Amino acid sequence: MKRFFTKQKAEDKRSFFLEDELLDYILSHSASADEVQEALIEETAELGWVSRMQISVDQGNLLTMLVKAIRPKFAVEIGTFTGFSAISIARGLPENGSLLCCDISEKWTAIARTYWERAGLNDKIKLVLAPAIETLDNLPEDTEIDFAFIDADKGNYKNYYDAVLSRLSDHGMIVIDNVLWSGRVIDESANDDDTHAIKDFNSYIRNDDRVTCTMLSIGDGVTLIQKK
Ligand SMILES: C[S@@+](CC[C@H](N)C(=O)[O-])C[C@H]1O[C@@H](n2cnc3c(N)ncnc32)[C@H](O)[C@@H]1O
Repeated sequence: MKRFFTKQKAEDKRSFFLEDELLDYILSHSASADEVQEALIEETAELGWVSRMQISVDQGNLLTMLVKAIRPKFAVEIGTFTGFSAISIARGLPENGSLLCCDISEKWTAIARTYWERAGLNDKIKLVLAPAIETLDNLPEDTEIDFAFIDADKGNYKNYYDAVLSRLSDHGMIVIDNVLWSGRVIDESANDDDTHAIKDFNSYIRNDDRVTCTMLSIGDGVTLIQKK
């Protein structure tokens, strides 16, 4: 249990609730990162502590598979960082599909752009540098979102979710990251704003009659949401 609450090392940051041996087994029986992804993981690791914001390779595989199954024409990512999850999403898109990435960091997304280019995905991805809620509000009225990945500031999760849900197509899916928040969602002594925001958000979705959801224990916890 202690591992939940200690400061995580970079290599110890994902699927933290699994024993190392079991996690190694899972990862060695799942697709591994390719050359571009490996290089991106390495460059992101050089940023230090913040590198733990990057989703894990197995989460990336999951995103690609979900996107391939849903075949979105229009996908949105809220929280892009150095671009790993965007590569995972963009790689699953059909020929006529595109991804809108929302972030506020010029510095981190400059790294993302380099790797999107290397992955041959530049024509699939559009990046908007602005608070994501503004970017969502500025979408044309009739925009339908077929796939959304929400992985930005936790205090705004509910706002992002409501903004996306109001535009979600009937077959669309919303994927939310960090819903277990390193286990702090069940730590009654955890009193910080982010933990409260995530706990409130998890309850909000579970009680939202418009949707059905399932929470997966991959990475730092991922919830999949679809309209009923
Ligand atoms: C957890 S990281 C995203 C990680 C990324 N999905 C990946 O797997 O590499 C969160 C990102 O959200 C961005 N962010 C924070 N507040 C934001 C806001 N109000 N609007 C848009 N992006 C925001 C940060 O700049 C950061 O890059």
